[in-house]
Amino acid sequence: ATPLRTLAEAQGRYFGTALTVADLSNTGETTIANAQFDMVTPGNEMKWDTTEPSSGRFNFGPGDQIASYAASHNMRVRGHNLVWHAQLPSWVSNLPANQVQGAMDAHITTEVNHYKGKIYAWDVVNEPFNGDGSFVNDAFYKAMGSNYFAEALRTAHAADPDAKLYINDYNIEGQNAKSNALYNLAKSLLSQGVPLGGIGFESHFIVGQVPSDFRANMQRFADLGLDVAVTELDDRMQLPASSSGLQQQATDYGNITKDCLAVSRCVGVSQWGVDDANSWIDGTFPGYGAATMYDRNFQPKPAYNSTVTAL
Ligand code: XIL
Repeated sequence: ATPLRTLAEAQGRYFGTALTVADLSNTGETTIANAQFDMVTPGNEMKWDTTEPSSGRFNFGPGDQIASYAASHNMRVRGHNLVWHAQLPSWVSNLPANQVQGAMDAHITTEVNHYKGKIYAWDVVNEPFNGDGSFVNDAFYKAMGSNYFAEALRTAHAADPDAKLYINDYNIEGQNAKSNALYNLAKSLLSQGVPLGGIGFESHFIVGQVPSDFRANMQRFADLGLDVAVTELDDRMQLPASSSGLQQQATDYGNITKDCLAVSRCVGVSQWGVDDANSWIDGTFPGYGAATMYDRNFQPKPAYNSTVTAL
């Protein structure tokens, strides 16, 4: 079949994956990635705990490996991520509140500047909302309230004006309290001239539970003048995988791909990982797995075929 990336590019979109440094030495994964994907998100390598494990000591080695792999395979990079309450070193969460903004700004400036010109889009703020639409009460929110979004986005924009700047979250794919809160935040940031460029819909689904209003929900964000992207797609099921589960997953992947293509501002779809054996799902959601388009032997599943058909 024609590779996903070729089919996506023909429609002005991309089809991506997440890769870690460990994935780069797994030839089963890289054989697929080299052929199928034209966008890479580092799985962990650009997160704060890797890039600035102690104050002012920066480590870009692992992120650089991902970026150079991407460049040598004609792939773009989604930078992931700059500000997040998880994988955040304790030196940041233990700072006195009046030092958090300075640490955040320095972190963003140094990291974005390091990768300037190599990053298509940055997830500037990752997962800032609780399920009820309230803000996660992390170090950034405690120190700055909701002003930290504008501060982070403006700081990233100053360091690389060409990168698209995103807020990325999960369980915002349908219209609900969380996506409504994000919508209101996005509107308010745009009205203040803050350089927000896009919304990332992580899309960590369970088979058969893709919201039927995903397309309409992406469209309302696009109507604000924002890009939208499916940033971390996977679709898990209870193990062992049944053939009906795999069929439902194929239906889900096809629908998600069609939803993106139906929204002109939807720039692309990225799966979180390459294959079922190396996905984060099994370790994070016990009893669940089989969440990607490729099985544990790197063979394409029904979800791959439905995605090709949808593209
Ligand atoms: C996950 C990685 O895949 C794991 O290796 C790590 O242990 C935890 O984080 N939302 C995100 C991603 O934005 O950064 C997360 O990645 C998955 C959920």
